[in-house]
Amino acid sequence: MEYRYMGKTGLQLSVLSFGSWVTFHKQIEDNTADELMGMAYDAGINFFDNAEVYALGKSEEMMGRVLKQKNWERSSYVVSSKVFFGWRGKNNKPNQHGLSRKHIVEACHEALQRLQVDYLDLYFCHRPDKNVPIEEVVFTMNTLIQQGKILYWGTSEWSGVEIMQAHAVAEKYRLIGPAMEQPQYNLFERQKMENEYVQIFKNQGLGTTIWSPLAAGLLTGKYNNGIPEGSRLGLEGFGWLKDRWMAEEKIQKVRVLGELANDLEVGIAPLSIAWCVKNPHVTTAILGATSKEQLTSNLQALEVLPKLTPEVMEKIDTIMQTKPSLPDF
Ligand SMILES: NC(=O)c1ccc[n+]([C@@H]2O[C@H](COP(=O)([O-])OP(=O)(O)OC[C@H]3O[C@@H](n4cnc5c(N)ncnc54)[C@H](OP(=O)(O)O)[C@@H]3O)[C@@H](O)[C@H]2O)c1
Repeated sequence: MEYRYMGKTGLQLSVLSFGSWVTFHKQIEDNTADELMGMAYDAGINFFDNAEVYALGKSEEMMGRVLKQKNWERSSYVVSSKVFFGWRGKNNKPNQHGLSRKHIVEACHEALQRLQVDYLDLYFCHRPDKNVPIEEVVFTMNTLIQQGKILYWGTSEWSGVEIMQAHAVAEKYRLIGPAMEQPQYNLFERQKMENEYVQIFKNQGLGTTIWSPLAAGLLTGKYNNGIPEGSRLGLEGFGWLKDRWMAEEKIQKVRVLGELANDLEVGIAPLSIAWCVKNPHVTTAILGATSKEQLTSNLQALEVLPKLTPEVMEKIDTIMQTKPSLPDF
């Protein structure tokens, strides 16, 4: 396993990590979660990602039970939660979601209980909250750090401007600013990582914990001929995700990418993940998996990395046609 420093912090994360969105509680039970987290940990993965909203709190509870059962040294792994959406779904009342001081603090306490840990290593604002002054967010996160309840705070799917506003407040009041962002980054979605955040990487430093490196599974080729039973895009309640990804133009690109993977004698899933972590601004790509076979395949990404020569990278860009164009001179 390779480990990378998270932005300008002293924290090292394994370049591949493991998350629980959709899978924990909805698709897999404790025994499989235990098996997959065990496999991940044994392979050197040291970061496990979660959020209050995943399976409306049940995902954190499941991960908490597994962590307790595993009894790994607390210092050997990093665990996260995210605040914003709340865990009551449609029953959220005012103050049970968003980024007010009240919800950030209460959500932190609840995540600690569900995960059965004394502190969260990483705590993310899952989305920006347009109704809350950024000062309130930064002061609250700084306080949680001073209290030892969280170690690092960050953002997820914030714009570059929003991240910089948080830095400006932190600088003004001598508080601890956001250390990491959790953006989507895969062969279809490159804008934030390769364009919007470029100046922040350079001037501020920013760790990134990438979500959906496989575009929810599309980049495995499994949807090339329709939706296999039991897979994410066919699950009840995920029609919005199906609408996002099941487009003929996208699937056709995946088919051609599959041909390149064949030529390289690698799997398309590990190829897509390797492409993601080849970007040095990626601290870690969070893997999702519902079976041992999937995780085994995805962990091969590190062996594929050396095959990503400049020529191969160019071929990938030509196939995908998703590389952001930056102003030229
Ligand atoms: N911050 C955010 O807003 C945000 C949003 C989304 C996710 N996340 C985080 O990022 C993590 C990863 O995201 P993700 O789960 O969307 O990642 P992903 O890698 O894009 O998709 C993972 C899913 O693809 C399928 N899959 C994975 N490997 C496969 C393989 N080798 N062969 C066939 N199918 C395979 C599995 O679903 P099926 O078996 O059901 O097909 C698996 O659950 C999440 O767990 C969560 O921690 C964060």
